[in-house]
Amino acid sequence: MKIARTIAELREARKDMGRVAFVPTMGALHSGHLSLMTAAKELADHVVVSIFVNPTQFGPNEDFDRYPRQLEKDTEACQSVGVDLLFVPTPDEMYPEGLESSTFVEVLGLTDYLCGASRPGHFRGVTTVVTKLFNAVQPQVAVFGQKDYQQAAVIARMTRELLMPIEIVAAPTARESDGLAMSSRNYNLSPEARIEALALSRSLKRAWSAFAAGESNGSVLVALTRDTLQEGLRDASRIDYVDCVDPITLEPSASIGEVGAVMCVAAHVGGVRLIDNIRLDKP
Ligand code: PAJ
Repeated sequence: MKIARTIAELREARKDMGRVAFVPTMGALHSGHLSLMTAAKELADHVVVSIFVNPTQFGPNEDFDRYPRQLEKDTEACQSVGVDLLFVPTPDEMYPEGLESSTFVEVLGLTDYLCGASRPGHFRGVTTVVTKLFNAVQPQVAVFGQKDYQQAAVIARMTRELLMPIEIVAAPTARESDGLAMSSRNYNLSPEARIEALALSRSLKRAWSAFAAGESNGSVLVALTRDTLQEGLRDASRIDYVDCVDPITLEPSASIGEVGAVMCVAAHVGGVRLIDNIRLDKP
């Protein structure tokens, strides 16, 4: 596995590769990330992974400084699943003009909802850095996780509307055996908060059961999910949002019809912000 630390090194290594599948990450890799890399191997001749904790997608009071960093372990993990090229740039390399540079990529509409509503500027940071990474890596296909459902939808919309010649693939959410969606932020959970965090996946399972039993009213399903989530959270924790949305537009879904819906939850658990979602599709 080659490691590139600069754009120049990356471009040099990329020259010898044919069809490339790309998996952008912020590191602190877990089996969810590795499942994207394994999926990427099936889609192209070579797999390129980036590890970059992107400062511009974190708000001023968010966890940029606390975000877990473990580069040595991550490098071994990438090697173990057969990644061909690992790109690990510094902020200076990605933002040579500084973090306040004057060019941005912003997707409107889709980013008004869910995490976009509670994290102003977050998606602008994501779409800008992903565009820069796409320009540097020049992949034919890129793999994103459904765990970050809105992010995958926003990136797919961006590539389509900006005529980027890149196929976006969304891969399923990897979970711990007890149901918790894998996340780098889980590393920051105390043992008590780790137990409390199960309330997210539990609340989504409850929504799914009610939907499977015939409930198709979005507000009823949201109320059920919210109640279950709230029951599992202690005083210091709080719900950010519980929303049942259209899978494409991400607008609130009043009544679930043929296109189905996605139930999305976000909560601060023991000081760590966690998200999860589940598809509600007619069988
Ligand atoms: P990060 O949170 O490291 O996630 C990298 C990729 O892994 C994303 O596509 C995310 O959806 C996926 N992922 C995370 N947890 C997963 C799980 N449990 N199962 C399956 N896939 C999972 O998302 C980002 O980084 C950044 O915003 C990035 C796109 C790299 C831009 O900075």
